[in-house]
Amino acid sequence: MALNNEIKGKILFTEEQIRNRAKELAEEIARDYEGEEVILLCTLKGSVLWMADLMKEIPLDVKIDFVSANSYGSSTCTSGVVTITKDVDMDLFNKNVIIVEDIVDTGTTLKHLKEYLKERNPKDVKICTMLDKPARRVIDLEPDYIGFTVDDLFIIGYGLDYDQKYRNLPYISYLESNE
Ligand code: IMP
Ligand code: MG
Repeated sequence: MALNNEIKGKILFTEEQIRNRAKELAEEIARDYEGEEVILLCTLKGSVLWMADLMKEIPLDVKIDFVSANSYGSSTCTSGVVTITKDVDMDLFNKNVIIVEDIVDTGTTLKHLKEYLKERNPKDVKICTMLDKPARRVIDLEPDYIGFTVDDLFIIGYGLDYDQKYRNLPYISYLESNE
């Protein structure tokens, strides 16, 4: 895989489109949690830009925290193990938690993260993902708030990486195979 030479022509979503969508979802979240406090839990590292766009637009009492979870195991196996490499700092007991995710692919990471968080007895755990790639799902998991749905492509930019690169692109693009 190599970065597409004509990446400018292959932009899937511009910064403006992403910000506008974040604002729409933030308004939806504000309606759903009216009068309540929410904890936005950003999954590192890919979700940082999406988190920043979203949190600014939610006119509620918002607290933020960060978690880093990696899933291992076969993509066709629903019992993959998730390792938490940076744990949640806050007490989640009886809190409204919204996991802010970059992309839901097979669904493995989020399924296990959700189960892990539920052990902390939150009031509620929902998922707000920037991108959804349903074609790759192996686990029955439906995000509650979805920015955009994408085809089965390897997505980069706006937080998403290939080999830790391209997270800083101010738009969402994808890699093409050289074959
Ligand atoms: P899962 O397969 O749903 O468990 O996805 C786990 C993680 O893989 C996501 O949160 C992303 O960090 C990463 N990932 C999945 N698809 C892509 C992609 O197209 N580009 C970059 N990272 C991806
Ligand atoms: Mg992720």
